[in-house]
Order: sequence, then C-alpha cells, then structure tokens
Amino acid sequence: MQLDKKIIHLDIIDSTNDYLKREYLNLENKTIVKAGYQTLGRGQFDRLWQSESNQNLLFSILYKNYELDKISDLKILIKDSLLKLLSKYNIKGTFKEPNDILVNGKKILGILIESKINSNSNYYDYVIVGIGININQTLFNNLEATSFKILNNKNYIVDEILNKLLEIIDSSNF
Ligand code: BTN
Repeated sequence: MQLDKKIIHLDIIDSTNDYLKREYLNLENKTIVKAGYQTLGRGQFDRLWQSESNQNLLFSILYKNYELDKISDLKILIKDSLLKLLSKYNIKGTFKEPNDILVNGKKILGILIESKINSNSNYYDYVIVGIGININQTLFNNLEATSFKILNNKNYIVDEILNKLLEIIDSSNF
C-alpha cells in the first residue's frame, strides 16, 4: 500500500479530516496528514476531539476514487491494524461499535470515517479515515480515557508509532 511516502506534517490545523476535505482535489491518493494540535478536532456524533498539543497521534488518510462496496473491508483493515499496533506495545484493545477501541473499558483511540459519494458512479470521491490515538497524555478532564503512557508508564515518540502503524497497514497488501 506504501502509505509512508506522502505524509504532510502540520503543527496546527483545525482538523486533519477537514484539511483533507478541503484539499483532496490537489492531493494524491493515500496522502496522510498529521497534526501536532487541532483547534477543532472532531469525533463521532458531532463531538469534539480534544487533545493536548504534541502529546498524541492525530492524523487522517485520504483515499480517492474509492469503490463503494470496498468500504466495509477498509473499516476492517483499519480496525485490525490498530488492534495489531496496540498489541505490539503490549496493549490489549477491544473494538466497540461503531468505531472505538477501548482498553479495560477506557478509550485509547477513536476513528472518524467521512466520505463523499460521487452520484454518477459506484465510487466515493473521497473516503477520509481520521484517527486519534492517546499516546503521552495522562490527564483527560473527566473522560473515561487511557493512553500508551498511562498503560506502560513511559513516553513515546509519536512519529515512531505512526510509522509502525503504516508498516502494518502496508503489510496487509490492501
Ligand atoms: C471518536 O472517537 O469520536 C473519533 C475521534 C477521531 C479523532 C481524529 S483526530 C484526527 C482526525 N481529525 C479529526 O478532527 N478527528 C479525527
């Protein structure tokens, strides 16, 4: 899949999903955009996704001209890749519908998939897979959340975790 060649690193943006929605016509298929901080990070059901600056992994992947009937396979690929990523760090995650991964009942990451259907074809103009993974943050404002650091008691380099995830997705040959 070779996802690792086209990563756009942004210090600050409203939302990596919104960035790709605005820019998708100018970007290549499978472009990844990663942010240190989002001013308007979004979650499912119109919720906000708040994350401390440069502590967590916040990124989105752009799939262009994506076949309508392949989207359920894509969701499974993403979910399985994320669970595999966690297991590489000795973290046992559990998938919870529609798009959460929990550890001992606490959220460690969230996925926000957004798409635009092309009405004249069997394709989406875009499918954007946005992922937020709690890495080094330890305080979560009353949320039932956890992170790599809380679970493993150490700090991580966020980009290394992104690279590891991209390797896993690449190796699935999807
Ligand atoms: C959820 O659990 O509700 C989904 C959270 C998804 C958050 C990520 S962070 C990167 C991308 N940009 C966004 O605005 N949201 C997703």
